[in-house]
Amino acid sequence: MSEALWNDLKSRCESCRGCPLGKTRTNLVFGVGNREADLMFVGEAPGQAEDEQGIPFVGAAGKLLDRYLFAVGIPRESVYIANILKCRPPMNRDPNPEEQDACIGYLREQVRLIQPRIIVCLGRISAMRLIKPDYRITREHGQFIRKGGVLMTAVYHPAALLRDPSKKEDMLLDMERIKEQLDLLTKA
Ligand code: URA
Repeated sequence: MSEALWNDLKSRCESCRGCPLGKTRTNLVFGVGNREADLMFVGEAPGQAEDEQGIPFVGAAGKLLDRYLFAVGIPRESVYIANILKCRPPMNRDPNPEEQDACIGYLREQVRLIQPRIIVCLGRISAMRLIKPDYRITREHGQFIRKGGVLMTAVYHPAALLRDPSKKEDMLLDMERIKEQLDLLTKA
């Protein structure tokens, strides 16, 4: 991983005005974690807590994600966590297509630099953007596909689990399978 390329990417994100959110955000939420990670999680967009702290998944949904990582034995520091958008949409609305188009290139550059073995989309918006536009999270969560040499899957967004706890059992099963795949790929 080239430090110079990474820092250049981050500073381009800091000064990005590719969509109006660069002006309304408090902090850029570039991403957090291990830049050599085998496993990468991609959420949707920063919420209020993330915007305030400049770190993804630190609010209520993030705390729940931490519990799943702990439950299946994946240290949070070992993975990389980012979002489709690096700036918070006002009132936590869904990122619109123009914002996603303006921002997705930065995520793709992060993926190229990190070179994860597995990418896990957190929720529908991320899965529709990274796996396929007609992704159906209820039907397809937990299924693995190979795309460009990377294993990809999607799980429910932790915020969806907070709204509907009946999905939590499926989430645990999906996370256990992700850990199995990770072990298969990295302990060979
Ligand atoms: N939800 C997301 O999709 N991303 C975050 O960083 C926080 C909440």
